[in-house]
Amino acid sequence: MPRDATLLWALRSPCAFACPHCYFGTIEEHKQAPPTEIGLLSHLSRNDLPPRVLKAFARTLAGSTIERVVIAGGEPLDWPATLEVIELVKEAGCEVVIATNGVPLTRPQVAERLIALGVDGVSVSLDSADAQTNDRLRPSRSGRFGYGDVLGGIRALLDARGTRHAPRVGIYTVVMRERPQEITNMGHLADQLGVDYYVPQPISLTPDHPLFEELTHRREDVSAVAEQLDRLYDEQGRLALPDPSYARHFVSAISTQESGHVTDCFGGARLFFVQPDGSVWDCPSDRRIAATAPERRRTIRDGDARTLFATRPACTDCSLFSRDCVNMWPLALDMPRLLKEETVR
Ligand SMILES: C[S@@+](CC[C@H](N)C(=O)[O-])C[C@H]1O[C@@H](n2cnc3c(N)ncnc32)[C@H](O)[C@@H]1O
Repeated sequence: MPRDATLLWALRSPCAFACPHCYFGTIEEHKQAPPTEIGLLSHLSRNDLPPRVLKAFARTLAGSTIERVVIAGGEPLDWPATLEVIELVKEAGCEVVIATNGVPLTRPQVAERLIALGVDGVSVSLDSADAQTNDRLRPSRSGRFGYGDVLGGIRALLDARGTRHAPRVGIYTVVMRERPQEITNMGHLADQLGVDYYVPQPISLTPDHPLFEELTHRREDVSAVAEQLDRLYDEQGRLALPDPSYARHFVSAISTQESGHVTDCFGGARLFFVQPDGSVWDCPSDRRIAATAPERRRTIRDGDARTLFATRPACTDCSLFSRDCVNMWPLALDMPRLLKEETVR
């Protein structure tokens, strides 16, 4: 069996940030009305699996089709058990990439532990090159952390890594309709900081989200975004970016709210998604999750990666293409390119 699939593993639900656009929703809304629909996430989740179950599953990744595990959340690095899970995933022979808000990297020893564990990539989220704007878009719950800490975390990791190859360090930016210029501004900041890769992603909100009108791209925004993406790829320098075809998917996804059509989808073939409660999906697309038949619902609880991800019938006729899918593209297809060693900077 080829080992060529990526697992996006949302390990833990809690997060010290309260980004109002987050896929996990907001604590305020969930205190009043906890989500009940299948597949919906919450930072307040009471169903996160305990470390014993997560670790038992991690051990089964050896000999499975999973080549790479992207550990996200919630915030994975605020939870000590994450380091134990990472250790087991590495022992199982998988690459590990961590998606983090960056603040935990400022704590003593976190960067050193990630390096010692052989983590392959650390993707840090930052949504604006301007401190005030970023902290408005990505406020911390306590108000005590923000842009300066995130940059401090990135610098701490780069310093601790020194001239070593790994982990590669990257920035992920959610691009919102009011700020197309962030696409290149963040590229310049990433370059100045000396990070290795950069991925701008389109915001993805459902039409009933309170911020949908304000933040979601409309047809009239497309040309400004396309121009910014062209400039980013023209000026790229040594910063690794997703394959240039990604820019086309980005533009095509924000051009419509309708579901598009994909003839050869990686979801369920080269990409899988595991939620903090252990649910396994072909990919995190809300449209795809909603379309999953009840008899196809699976869990990692007492599950074995060698069987869970063994049969992988590629979906050759998906009519659910959306902005969500664009956000998965670099995870499913571009990680080798983003993690590749360029000249040490
Ligand atoms: C949910 S976070 C979890 C990992 C970690 N706590 C972090 O801040 O990166 C994973 C990524 O999803 C992005 N994200 C969250 N909500 C989004 C949305 N509605 N549309 C697009 N990206 C989103 C975040 O900005 C972040 O880059």
